[in-house]
Amino acid sequence: MDTKIKIPDGITPYYSTNLGFLVHGDCLEIMPQLGEVDLVLTDPQYGMEFQSNYRIVKHDKIHGDENLPLEEIKMAINKAGAAAYVFCRWDNIYEMPKPKSVLIWMKNNWSMGDLKHEHGRQYEIICFYSKENHVFKKRIPDILKYRRTGNIYHPTQKPVGIMVQLIECNKAVLILDPFLGSGTTAIACERLNRQWIGIEISEKYCEIAAKRIEHESKRPTLFKGSLEVKPKTRKQIGMIKESK
Ligand SMILES: C[S@@+](CC[C@H](N)C(=O)[O-])C[C@H]1O[C@@H](n2cnc3c(N)ncnc32)[C@H](O)[C@@H]1O
Repeated sequence: MDTKIKIPDGITPYYSTNLGFLVHGDCLEIMPQLGEVDLVLTDPQYGMEFQSNYRIVKHDKIHGDENLPLEEIKMAINKAGAAAYVFCRWDNIYEMPKPKSVLIWMKNNWSMGDLKHEHGRQYEIICFYSKENHVFKKRIPDILKYRRTGNIYHPTQKPVGIMVQLIECNKAVLILDPFLGSGTTAIACERLNRQWIGIEISEKYCEIAAKRIEHESKRPTLFKGSLEVKPKTRKQIGMIKESK
């Protein structure tokens, strides 16, 4: 992609590269200011007030995690000219618009949950919505196996690899993630040389996302691929301002 992405009038990005830009704000207010995109790839909060009990250094609670943000999700799906992927949990899928496919992200661990009455859950769901002019570059099956990330940068951080695979199998040029979190979708786009728009309401995560995207955008093309550079600890890489 040789041309720099055009930033719509009235939008001041928090961070930008040649391929994309990140807006700090509420996606419900920002999305109406954007034109149509080809693909939406997003991971909204699941509406479960998630805060892991298994971390020594705890992340803050996720903004708006009291409810599934249905209005925002529907608006995002409408913004997609070709298709949309929306991550969700098995127990809120009945609230979602009916998808064309349900993809499974199979993880290398399973949740504890109710040890007596519930099976250990080893997957998360991705709802896929395709429109008339959607075209696959290479059709893939609906079970995707990726190791969990360890959530170094964000409490519900997704693997870069799964985002790369979901983008790569589509012909989309411009990709939107209105719930960008720590920037994973934008990193995948940078890796694949696709254009991207990210929106994130928390300034803390905008800062983390900007640093991760900057790091990715400066990697020599030779080293771009499906592997993410993994820091050993948050402090070691010095990329994250600890929450106050
Ligand atoms: C589940 S997380 C996304 C994590 C991301 N996939 C990653 O790998 O880091 C959802 C994010 O959406 C943000 N968010 C919540 N409500 C929002 C809104 N109305 N507009 C924009 N961002 C929002 C939260 O702050 C959170 O970082």
